[in-house]
Amino acid sequence: MDQAALPNDLETYWMPFTANRQFKADPRLMASAEGMYYYTTDGRKVLDGTAGLWCVNAGHARPEIAEAVHKQILTLDYAPAFQMGHPAVFELASRLAALMPGDLDHVFFCNSGSEAVETALKIALAYHRAKGDAARVRLIGRERGYHGVGFGGISVGGIAGNRKLYAGISGVDHLPHTFNLAEQAFSRGQPAWGAHLADELERIAALHDPSTIAAVIVEPMAGSTGVLVPPKGYLERLRAICDKHGFLLIFDEVITGFGRLGAGFATDLFGVQPDMICFAKGVTNGVVPMGGVVARKHIYDAFMQGPEIAVEFAHGYTYSGHPVATAAALATLDIYAREDLFNRAKGLSDYWADAAHSLKGLPNVIDIRTIGLVAGIELAPLPGKPAQRAFDVYLKCFERGLLIRQTGDILALSPPLIVEKSQIDAMFGLLGEVLKSC
Ligand SMILES: Cc1ncc(COP(=O)(O)O)c(C=O)c1O
Repeated sequence: MDQAALPNDLETYWMPFTANRQFKADPRLMASAEGMYYYTTDGRKVLDGTAGLWCVNAGHARPEIAEAVHKQILTLDYAPAFQMGHPAVFELASRLAALMPGDLDHVFFCNSGSEAVETALKIALAYHRAKGDAARVRLIGRERGYHGVGFGGISVGGIAGNRKLYAGISGVDHLPHTFNLAEQAFSRGQPAWGAHLADELERIAALHDPSTIAAVIVEPMAGSTGVLVPPKGYLERLRAICDKHGFLLIFDEVITGFGRLGAGFATDLFGVQPDMICFAKGVTNGVVPMGGVVARKHIYDAFMQGPEIAVEFAHGYTYSGHPVATAAALATLDIYAREDLFNRAKGLSDYWADAAHSLKGLPNVIDIRTIGLVAGIELAPLPGKPAQRAFDVYLKCFERGLLIRQTGDILALSPPLIVEKSQIDAMFGLLGEVLKSC
């Protein structure tokens, strides 16, 4: 069959995390992108208020990344990932480790945030076993946590819609989420209220017995469920309780990594060092899929035992450390460093917060929360129609040339870190106009 002659009827593609029927009735199709803008197939210019899906931190169509990818394909398109390597991936591991605090210095590569989470959870369980502590099999996540879509990730994640159809893995419990509208409304940066919620980990530990718990995983800032910024002192308390009982602490930095919060990683911003960090998205500027886990030295060392020819950790992906993703990542890290983009985000964060909080008082805006170059704007739901109002705002913004995210009745903005002040003004100006009409 002549493939080119097949009709493009939109029906065949089963779209991920998408209202397929609504989309196919009224498609939003991107044709190209450059810098801060997308261009649609019907010729409209759309300001990217979300860095794609929180990943295009250096802006679109960076020639340096394109050239690195092109050159890599022609030089070494693929190298087997098992029992084999290529020099660039070792360089990338070293450069990522150099971005991390303390002894977070060993990097395991995969292809997405979801895989990074599965990998970190498996490392946690295998680590305790390698140390002769095989009773530590439980994993603790948090309500309103998003850790991708693998069975481990949905199990430790705390989104009912992602979990309800699947039993998930056993031996999981959840911390309460950290958001409280009455106590935290209209916070800039870390809310003052809520550190005590970390103490719930003591209750959970007592319930299961601490000796059965392997690890605690949280997003330092919960992104996908609506920008939930950790209360002051909260992460410090989690760290202290993990230390007390020997739990590994995993930060899922798939969103917060690579400058999003105005620091390289959330661990830098909050001054709390986890035992593992999951990363993805911004590592390649979203150009080629890549994810990974950075583990502390003692975790890696615990695996390095047994016969020298034995595989120490039976885990990995055909595309772990793929040469093309590696090339994209190295070029991306060069841009971040050359343009000092993490500090750029930090420098813009007050301007960003002022612009976001200027929407306070508009109809149905019940909360605005900001940190770094992230804003969450929560709307009062339409009676009996949860998520409808925010979805309408999302659609109207897109029609008028602004891409934002919508989750439930919350809007999220997280632009590329190259955003200009005039573009921040344009984003919140347009969003404000749309909010007045919804
Ligand atoms: C914190 C977090 N973890 C994991 C994931 C999953 O990443 P991916 O979609 O690349 O599998 C995401 C995606 O948004 C995320 O925000």
